[in-house]
Amino acid sequence: MKDSATYDWFEPLYANAAGDASQVPWALPEAVPYLTNWLQGVEGTGKSAAVVGCGLGNDAEALAAAGFEVTAFDVAKSAIAWAKQRFPNSSVNYVTADLFNLPAGWKGAFDVVFEFRTVQALPVSVRKEAIAQIATLPKPGGTLLMATYTRPSEALNDGPPWPLSASELAEFETLGLKIIKKETFKKKEGRFGDRVQIEYQAPNQ
Ligand SMILES: C[S@@+](CC[C@H](N)C(=O)[O-])C[C@H]1O[C@@H](n2cnc3c(N)ncnc32)[C@H](O)[C@@H]1O
Repeated sequence: MKDSATYDWFEPLYANAAGDASQVPWALPEAVPYLTNWLQGVEGTGKSAAVVGCGLGNDAEALAAAGFEVTAFDVAKSAIAWAKQRFPNSSVNYVTADLFNLPAGWKGAFDVVFEFRTVQALPVSVRKEAIAQIATLPKPGGTLLMATYTRPSEALNDGPPWPLSASELAEFETLGLKIIKKETFKKKEGRFGDRVQIEYQAPNQ
């Protein structure tokens, strides 16, 4: 367990937005193209998926539309309530849960795990543990998809978000996840470095 002060600002942000997505700085109108492109031709029926820090639910819904049985969680209960309200007929299991205190039954439980912009929203002090917790979610041999901004050096600028350094990103491989495909999108401008999209395979046991 971590000191939740590092991430307890999310709940009031969603609550204060009061249903107005323009008040949620990271809210996108639809599922991120990285995921929808990856899902092209993928049949999820009979498979499970988890969405880490699911926010308002678009990515979870995209996985469900591809047939996956989806568990989508977020530490902010207002985000979960909002996602359920947006998608009242959804098959997604939306759950208020803390990445640093995951339900035991979730470990090694998912064929596909999707992580988009949660780790980079957490300060460096808890990042290694955040990555370690995410790495527990895929089944042996399962898939972890993650997309994040990176920063060009270990030096840290103001945040959030705090883009990942090369050594922080390497933590996934240290934990045994193997890179299947990595795409890098070159920096345009601003304090962020390159954006990366990585498909990992979890170790087989
Ligand atoms: C920058 S937002 C990204 C949301 C969504 N993944 C997206 O890309 O639209 C980060 C999300 O992570 C959630 N979050 C932060 N700390 C968390 C934790 N410890 N456990 C679960 N979710 C967390 C926040 O509530 C927030 O919804």
